[in-house]
Amino acid sequence: MDKKWWKESVVYQIYPRSFCDSNGDGIGDLGGIISKLDYLEELGVDVLWLCPIYKSPNDDNGYDISDYRDIMDEFGTLDDFDELLAKAHEHHLKIMLDLVVNHTSDEHKWFMESRSSEDNSYRNYYIWEKGKDGNPPNNWDSNFSGSAWEYDENTDMYYLHLFSKKQPDLNWRNEKVREEVYDLMKWWLDKGIDGFRMDVINMISKVKGYPDGKPIPGSKYGDRLPFVMNGPHVHEYLQEMNHRVLSKYDVMTVGEAPCTSVEDAKKYTGFERDELNMVFTFEHMDVDSDNGFKWTDKKPDLPELKKVLSKWQIGLDGVGWNSLYMNNHDQPRMVSRFGNDGKYWKESAKMLAVCLHMLQGTPYIYQGEEIGMKNITLHSIEECNDIEEINAYKEYTSDGRISQEDMMRYINRKGRDNARTPMQWDDTVNAGFTSGTPWFIVNPNYKEINVAKQEKDPDSILNFYKQLIRLRKEYPIIVYGSYKLLYPEHKTAFVYERVLENKKLLVACNFSEEELELEVPAEFVQNSAKLLISNYPEAGISEKMSLRPYEARVYRMAK
Ligand code: NOJ
Repeated sequence: MDKKWWKESVVYQIYPRSFCDSNGDGIGDLGGIISKLDYLEELGVDVLWLCPIYKSPNDDNGYDISDYRDIMDEFGTLDDFDELLAKAHEHHLKIMLDLVVNHTSDEHKWFMESRSSEDNSYRNYYIWEKGKDGNPPNNWDSNFSGSAWEYDENTDMYYLHLFSKKQPDLNWRNEKVREEVYDLMKWWLDKGIDGFRMDVINMISKVKGYPDGKPIPGSKYGDRLPFVMNGPHVHEYLQEMNHRVLSKYDVMTVGEAPCTSVEDAKKYTGFERDELNMVFTFEHMDVDSDNGFKWTDKKPDLPELKKVLSKWQIGLDGVGWNSLYMNNHDQPRMVSRFGNDGKYWKESAKMLAVCLHMLQGTPYIYQGEEIGMKNITLHSIEECNDIEEINAYKEYTSDGRISQEDMMRYINRKGRDNARTPMQWDDTVNAGFTSGTPWFIVNPNYKEINVAKQEKDPDSILNFYKQLIRLRKEYPIIVYGSYKLLYPEHKTAFVYERVLENKKLLVACNFSEEELELEVPAEFVQNSAKLLISNYPEAGISEKMSLRPYEARVYRMAK
């Protein structure tokens, strides 16, 4: 059992723009985060991951960085950051920053130089190619719709952008680019930050020659994924980064890694491999997509979700480490997606928390999850803010693939805006998020769902999260125990055991509004296992367990 602080931690993710506004301009900021440190310490989390806070023209809300060594105007100054870091540490909270180095903003100095001429010394910082007969160099589409290549008149060439055209991809083959990245990482680490969440880090190495992708049915583009995901040099670059930078500091790292298998993850997170501590897999986020296509009505299928999560639990046990999440700033709210945000809102929010936090790995809580924030209903595309949604809406409704009505329904179900509505602090105007005009719609349910109300209610989701987080500190089995799935085919129950030496946990979750009955493994009954936590009034253990709608129970047994 290799003990590490980052395995024992709980991470809280902050989307600064929507967290708390301290100066009344309607946009969350660093001062707002400082004002909530008492709240976060009280919640019991250990690490705060801040989505990008750097200078940015905000084409993709900060994921397009124009200066890595400065703070976005709306968020504050470097002095504010220093204050936040010092005060967070006083509150026993570590700070993890978002490292976005697959791409920069097109307004970054490097790119402005790079595009100025073919012999500029920054030219090779980015990926430039000649077009083919007036067309882009290949048929790849971008993550945010349209071609992945943008024509630049100045030098009559195209640059690669896997996201928006204002997010040109860096050329990691160029050693100078890697040096720049390591330098800026050191600059922040020397300030005393405690880690990095690395944006789409598995996309930094592209297959040379940029071959055309297989045509995507119904689209004029080809599939770029085989050529950009987990590319030929990605592990080499990460090991270099680790040897040159990360290994010199006691920090935590998590790489965002879409399209990554357990086998890939063993390489990224393997304890002996000197790359990253953990990755964010997307496999469980795909259980309600249509062959990877996210805009659909498909509902998550529990047996499939269990299969995927179990594969990761077993695959990485003793080899690497899992991150545990069910929502973040790119995903819909978990209670709306996997729970029941109507009649069983409270029960299902708590059940999902239990189900996730009892798995092996480091849990991530996304702001507002701890009070059960729900998806937002947007009525037309004009109300949307997210570039991914807006571009997808334009592309699919204009080429006739999806009707406007269907697309709005899909956006309300799966769109990233669901996660980005302002944090609901209390029932005063704008949910206490700002005294000005909020940059984005506040969910109208804030009078019912807010922090102030839940602080006062001992049975609230918020107080349940506090209890759950405390358990992790008390029982090493929650962190280090191995995992075994029971009843894999059960349609509505997610039941598993955790085992550490002579101790065991039984975690039983009902993912439906129907009561269900399960047989309890005999040793838990014989050894009079104790209930550690449950979202319903206490129930004793016996051979048969009947789980009420969205009930979750955790029993602990020690021989
Ligand atoms: C992943 C980030 O989480 C997402 O918000 C962003 O749009 C893309 N990477 C591009 O940076």
